[in-house]
Amino acid sequence: MKSVETVPRPVADFQALTPEELFARTAAAKQALGDRVLILGHNYQRDEVIEHADFRGDSLLLAKLAAARAERPYIVFCGVHFMAETADILSRSKQTVILPDLAAGCSMADMAAIEQVDECWDALARIIPVEETVTPVVYVNSAAVLKAFCGEHGGITCTSSNARAVMDWAWARREKILFFPDEHLGRNTANKMGLPRDAMIVWDPFLPNGGNSTEAVRKARLILWKGHCSVHQMFQPAHVDYFRKKYPGVKVIVHPECHEEVVNRADLVGSTEFIIRTVSSASAGTAWAVGTELNLVNRLKREQADKRVFFLSSTVCQCATMFRIDAPHLCWAMENLADGHVVNHIVVPDDEKAWAKIALDRMMAVS
Ligand code: 13P
Ligand code: SF4
Repeated sequence: MKSVETVPRPVADFQALTPEELFARTAAAKQALGDRVLILGHNYQRDEVIEHADFRGDSLLLAKLAAARAERPYIVFCGVHFMAETADILSRSKQTVILPDLAAGCSMADMAAIEQVDECWDALARIIPVEETVTPVVYVNSAAVLKAFCGEHGGITCTSSNARAVMDWAWARREKILFFPDEHLGRNTANKMGLPRDAMIVWDPFLPNGGNSTEAVRKARLILWKGHCSVHQMFQPAHVDYFRKKYPGVKVIVHPECHEEVVNRADLVGSTEFIIRTVSSASAGTAWAVGTELNLVNRLKREQADKRVFFLSSTVCQCATMFRIDAPHLCWAMENLADGHVVNHIVVPDDEKAWAKIALDRMMAVS
């Protein structure tokens, strides 16, 4: 590693560079680092970032890659904070995970705090024998401490690709599931599995008993945390109706974080990777209305020019936090790394890491 600087350079030094300079300097830093670095990019990342990624994918695929590439000492994670934490938990202890902008969080992940989940668990324990009857299932879009909670309480994590298999696993062990923080992924998956509506309740962390009677808690098989993705909640049933009317024969494909009324009207539902794979392998001339983040849809539009690809909304729905990772931040992280400076190192504390890994390993075994 060439060591020309004694302190890391600030990101401000990179913000006035032209796109061409940023591309060339990031590529040069990557070349200098060679196989010491692995760049992972989530499907929602901007083109200017994704073009440097060694791999792109959905949360599950990127978590698997982070776990599998033990020979790379540095993982530069172009995604959001919970994804980088997951990479740190699953990678080897001598590997270092870097998130180019620490402000790249996830508003859904912020909708469940450990104090609220602890309170919920205690409230449930006053009504039912919680440890014997409830499996906690946490969507990977969550802080590491919540994954640790699940590991410690016999629970498991899931992603949008494996939620059904995970819920099967969970119900095979205990009669109820506490699913957090996304109520929509939980409900949409349970709907597909045929769980009756009266077996589901919603837990609002700001209300006593989550807003439920003790009788409702006793009867429930699925307790859905009141949380959502602000990007996917923008898609409305009327958008599906509009595209079906305007483009007869159009296929509607959406992410399971969408509201159930949208999911129930769609032809296909799945993770970002499933959406990309499905549209990419469709016949030329087919038309697709896609209900997920805008960067992904715009890239799909360009890469699948023999198909008609539409964004399933009239308003722009970008993931503002994913968007925080841009060419200047990536170039800043990569050049500093090539100069021997690790910036924005993501470290999950050891006590959280051990339990969180148990929950993630259970998921990996299921998927
Ligand atoms: P995927 O796992 O499908 O990529 O989804 C991640 C996400 O944050 C969707 O909003
Ligand atoms: Fe979180 Fe929604 Fe962004 Fe996905 S799209 S990272 S769930 S805010």
